[in-house]
Parts: sequence; C-alpha cells; structure tokens
Amino acid sequence: MLVSSLCREEELKSERFLYWADLIRSAWDFDNSGQPVYTHRKMWEWLFIIEALHERDMLRPGRRGLGFGVGQDPMTALFAGLGCEITATDMDPDAADQAGWVETGQHASTLEHLNGHGLCEPDEFAERVDFRTVDMNHIPADLDGYDFTWSACAFEHLGSITRGQEFIFEQMRCLKPGGVGVHTTEFNVSSNRRTIATGGTVVFRRRDIDWMADHLRSRGHSLTLDYDPGSSEADNHVDTPPFSNTHLKILIGEHVATSMALVVEKGSPDGTDLMPSTMRARDYWLRAQQAVMTVVARGRRLVARLSGRGR
Ligand SMILES: C[S@@+](CC[C@H](N)C(=O)[O-])C[C@H]1O[C@@H](n2cnc3c(N)ncnc32)[C@H](O)[C@@H]1O
Repeated sequence: MLVSSLCREEELKSERFLYWADLIRSAWDFDNSGQPVYTHRKMWEWLFIIEALHERDMLRPGRRGLGFGVGQDPMTALFAGLGCEITATDMDPDAADQAGWVETGQHASTLEHLNGHGLCEPDEFAERVDFRTVDMNHIPADLDGYDFTWSACAFEHLGSITRGQEFIFEQMRCLKPGGVGVHTTEFNVSSNRRTIATGGTVVFRRRDIDWMADHLRSRGHSLTLDYDPGSSEADNHVDTPPFSNTHLKILIGEHVATSMALVVEKGSPDGTDLMPSTMRARDYWLRAQQAVMTVVARGRRLVARLSGRGR
C-alpha cells in the first residue's frame, strides 16, 4: 500500500499508476495521441492521490470526498464518475487572480471548470458534485464527516511552512475517524536546514514533515514516511528553465525540490489538531520579517530608480 513518499520515476511508470493515467488521459494527452505518460512530477502527484485513495477503498459509491485548491485537476470528475459524492473547493476568484492562478489556468471558480475533460457523465456530475469557495487557511467548521480529503500542489501556497502544517492539522477535522487525507506538496531534497519558509511557494524540509508527523501521531492519527528520492537517471536529473521533458526534480531558488505526497489516516474523533501557539507566534515573526524585508527592498529599488533619474 502507498505510504507518504517522494516522487520517484519507478512509481510513476508502475502498472498501477499507468492504469489511472490511461483513465484520465483526456486531462493530459489532449489529442488522444496515445503518448506515454509524461515524466513529470505533476502527473505523479495526481496518480499518487488517486491510487492511494483507491487502495483504501475510498473511490466507490457511498464515499464522500472533499478536495482543496482543486484548480482544474481531474480528480473531482474522476471520483464523481466512480460514484463518490464530492465537495470541490478553491480559493476566492479575486485572490486567485491576484496570485496568478487564473492566468495560468490553475484555478476553478465554477462547477463547469471541473468536468472540462469529460471524465464524468454530465448528469451524474451535476448530482454528485458541489463547488464551494474555501480558503485553506480558514476551513469552515461545517465541512466535516468526509471519508477522504485531497489536495494537489496547493498547501505550499498558503504563506508559510507553519500555515501549511496548520492546514494539514485542521483538515483532519473534516474527516470521519478511519478517513484518509492525501495531500501533495514541495519537498526540499538538497537541505534539511536552509529552505524557503515564507512567501508564495514554500519548500518543506524533512524536519518540517517529521515534526508534523509526530504531532499528528500524538493526536492519534497515523502515517508512515518514506524519504527515498529514487536513483534512476530521471530521478537524478534536476530540471532548470527552459524545462525538459524530465521534470521530477527542479531547482527552486537554490534548493533542489521534488513533490511529496502525505497519506494521513484519521484515528481520534476529536477536534484537537490545533497548531501549538509557540509555532504560530514564530510564524508571525518570520512573516513580519519577510514583510519588512520586502518593503526595504522596494524602498531601495525606488531610491535607486529616482537617483538614476536625477543624473
Ligand atoms: C498549483 S495550483 C494546483 C491546482 C490543482 N490542484 C492541480 O493539481 O492542477 C494551486 C491551487 O491552490 C489554490 N490555492 C492557493 N492558495 C489557496 C488558499 N489559500 N485557499 C484555497 N486554495 C488555494 C489555487 O487557487 C490553485 O487552484
């Protein structure tokens, strides 16, 4: 059974992943050319989420699923087509526009966006899928009682590592005991020390994931971690712009990153997954520092521009 792990070519090209890749072909092989699956981490993330939920018997009639930051990913339509009742959510359209998600076609603001590849019969889709605007930093309390939750490539965009960790804790409240959350994100392969801890895209270190796992276990939830980054030629390639067709690891700033999927099974029925207040205070401090640094940098650029003009 799949456990929390890093993106690896071996898994991406495995029979169990290729089966799902074929089923969602209309979402990535737009001309239906029959081309082999892309050696791309986004592909791995989608297929991982689908397979991890399938292995836990989540993808069948009677199951209820909740997706966060779904954008235009194919999971909503696939899961509805397999009989699940789905609540698909994404952030407020204006905020998404400002963050650039609308321009790059990675945001969903209506139901129609979510079955664009025809993975579900339209009448079944209309019957089984609801869409809501939800900020992952403030999950509404009425979103509860789900069998499963998922998100692909979203919880690294919440403003800081701490906010991403808090999202993982908070979304456990949405699950029934015995339910499962599968969420993919950015993982720092090159350092367990230096990283991008605040801003539009953060990169989780092994210690951030370990800390989160310990906290989840202390609340009665379970997860197993596998940090093997793979060893094939594609696993060892670090892609930089202009990007190639081998895109499992990339350079973000000075950090080599890949995708990580977390699979967390809910144990306790309580709502005690709150972030420790010391972590929250530290997060405010880090984000305040970043805001000051941004203002100072802008001020310096303005002064440089004005003094250039004066010459
Ligand atoms: C990289 S896109 C991924 C979209 C989709 N899950 C996929 O795999 O193609 C990031 C998504 O996260 C959403 N997002 C970013 N910040 C969010 C927030 N605070 N609350 C909810 N969604 C957010 C964006 O609107 C976008 O849909």
